[in-house]
Amino acid sequence: MDKQERAKPRVVLGVSGGIAAYKACELLRRLTESGHDVRVVPTAASLNFVGEATWSALSGNPATTEVWESVHEVPHVRIGQGADLVVVAPATADMLAKAAHGIADDLLTNTLLTARCPVVFAPAMHTEMWENPATQENVATLRRRGALVIEPAVGRLTGVDTGKGRFPDPAQIFELCRRVLARGPRAATADLAGRHVVVSAGGTREPLDPVRYLGNRSSGRQGYALAATAAARGARVTLVAGNTELPDPAGVDVVRIGTAVQLREAVLAAAGDADAVVMAAAVADFRPSEYATGKIKKKDGQEPEPVTLVRNPDILAELSADRPNRGQIVVGFAAETDDVLANGRTKLARKGCDLLVVNEVGEHKTFGSAENEAVILATDGSETPVPHGPKEALADTVWDLVAGRFAATADGS
Ligand code: CTP
Repeated sequence: MDKQERAKPRVVLGVSGGIAAYKACELLRRLTESGHDVRVVPTAASLNFVGEATWSALSGNPATTEVWESVHEVPHVRIGQGADLVVVAPATADMLAKAAHGIADDLLTNTLLTARCPVVFAPAMHTEMWENPATQENVATLRRRGALVIEPAVGRLTGVDTGKGRFPDPAQIFELCRRVLARGPRAATADLAGRHVVVSAGGTREPLDPVRYLGNRSSGRQGYALAATAAARGARVTLVAGNTELPDPAGVDVVRIGTAVQLREAVLAAAGDADAVVMAAAVADFRPSEYATGKIKKKDGQEPEPVTLVRNPDILAELSADRPNRGQIVVGFAAETDDVLANGRTKLARKGCDLLVVNEVGEHKTFGSAENEAVILATDGSETPVPHGPKEALADTVWDLVAGRFAATADGS
């Protein structure tokens, strides 16, 4: 049967021998419950952490380790050939080394050699092992060949250690797998590989006193969708996030900020070597001119003191003017309530960015919603309408336009 005709996408979940194998059970559950046919291929070492019975019971399929079982079905070739996605989670340093060098000494490594579909590795190991030049070179090799190697998260590791190397949240790895599957064949998957992109998201809060601030209603969802879709397309992503409650997308480096001034510092620091910067954050244009170190109190019989405001820096205009990295693409957002397109055109010229995503905001529109509708204006005069749909779809259209500009720069056109 042709892959397209099958009712359920086929996913191979490769599990290598790290303690995070137990977290892969949640990834498996999410994959099966959302209608994927999952075949778990554990390494022999991983069975020390989670046994074969767990994988078979949760997947509803046999979970074999060696190529010598059911040989008549030629599993070392068939499993990889039939897959729509292979995700290795957790991927140990040893597994990355084997995959990078084409070693095929068990069922999982054979499967990696026969799979033509997108391949995702979710590494988990101690910081020293992740940062070792051998591992880093293996990761670079795998990425160059089109695999998606998720950056590990930073946090508590096995034992008392803390650092980079933590297995990302299984729910977020699942989201990334879903996005990769939706993009189809391997060639279409990692079109932002080798690129560093910076996305700002959420809203800034400008403190008035220790308990009050001036803020806005941005949920951060559009910026998070931009960060997550870029990671699923192979980019290294820095997400500068202001005041959101959303979970960190898998593989994304998240920098948290509070105020517009902090946002500016974080974005400019990350933008130095970035190929693209997308300013999806809702930045406060003004901040209170003075910060009261103690809570502002009511005074009997007196009117309140007026709050005076000062201008915040315009980060998008500054980024567009400076561009430390030649050829850097800068994208802005315009939230408008009236004369949406006309205001958008004026704003594109005023800010000096390459693309401006213009959307209408209001009481029940855009903020906090999972959906969005926009027109993307470009400096060449083009307009790309994005119909009402998930914020993820708008994010993918933004990256399509950015990737098109990267390709045009590479061609010299
Ligand atoms: N932006 C920024 N710095 C600011 C204000 C806005 O970088 N101080 C960015 C936003 O992240 C967004 C774009 O500029 O990408 C447009 O934001 P918007 O609030 O629509 O525009 P403003 O410049 O605030 O213009 P106005 O308030 O006049 O509509």
